[in-house]
Amino acid sequence: MNAPESDRLAAGAPSPRERFSPDWLSRREWLDARSRSHRLTGRAADWLAARPGGHGGPYGIVDLGCGSGSNLRFLAPRLPGPQRWRLVDHDPSLLALARRQGATLRDAIGERLVIEACCRDLSPVDDALMADADLVVASALFDLVSRSWVESLVTACVARRQALLFTLSVDGDWAFLDAAGQRIEDEEDIAVRTLFQAHQRRDKGLGPALGGEAPAVLVAAMAATGYRVESAATPWHLAAGESELLPLAEPLVQGWHDAALAQAPEEQPLLERWRASRLDGLAAGELGLTVGHRDLLALPPLLPGGA
Ligand SMILES: C[S@@+](CC[C@H](N)C(=O)[O-])C[C@H]1O[C@@H](n2cnc3c(N)ncnc32)[C@H](O)[C@@H]1O
Repeated sequence: MNAPESDRLAAGAPSPRERFSPDWLSRREWLDARSRSHRLTGRAADWLAARPGGHGGPYGIVDLGCGSGSNLRFLAPRLPGPQRWRLVDHDPSLLALARRQGATLRDAIGERLVIEACCRDLSPVDDALMADADLVVASALFDLVSRSWVESLVTACVARRQALLFTLSVDGDWAFLDAAGQRIEDEEDIAVRTLFQAHQRRDKGLGPALGGEAPAVLVAAMAATGYRVESAATPWHLAAGESELLPLAEPLVQGWHDAALAQAPEEQPLLERWRASRLDGLAAGELGLTVGHRDLLALPPLLPGGA
């Protein structure tokens, strides 16, 4: 799930260049870590450890749209070392946070990381950024990019037989849960969600945005490459009354409201009523929520002889 509109606007960025507040990225980090597929992370670690081609030196990992370094903090201790990271983002303040916090991290064998921060726009895809990578990673990025951007990225990575681990791509779904954890299908929620999904597809600076289509487009782009592709559902689940629910749920509901309002200003009265009632339900411990995401791991085809 990407940052609510209110958070992005609070960061003061000119549209459509996407800016994300460090506060929002920090609030979601623990839930991202809880939701991610640990199985796919483990498979990526195993692939790196047996790195095909057998070239020496540290494992090269590139994190596209690294933000304040959440993906780095999750992955570094779970991947074999030594590791050399290239962090890429167009936001210098997020990049500085990622680099500073990365300085204290250790890989799975207890060694410090080599980290290079690269402040630049991801458009167009520049394969020189990934030139020396074994593994290309990105987290919570693909709803912002276009189909052609994905296709260019996949072409560049496949040409170098790089592995890909793309995590927490939103699939456009979200819903409230009742106190028993059951999904609530409410007509007003569905109407707001539909407006939100349309808003997600607006251009965010990397072409017409994929929004919730991102996981399916990633799988389709990988399908013809011969790569071994695995995907896992990695939804956020926040139960009604869960102590950490409100710091995330409030900005999410606000963001869904703001996006829907931007799509349909004439629906303002309904949207304000909807927001107030859902925030009341969350605060009273009557509502939880779920937000759909998927992780994807794509590994190069085995060479003759099994490498
Ligand atoms: C939702 S945040 C995810 C950050 C981080 N990967 C995480 O999981 O916390 C998306 C990130 O993509 C970056 N981003 C968005 N559009 C970009 C672009 N055109 N060029 C470079 N970075 C971009 C943003 O600055 C932000 O850090």
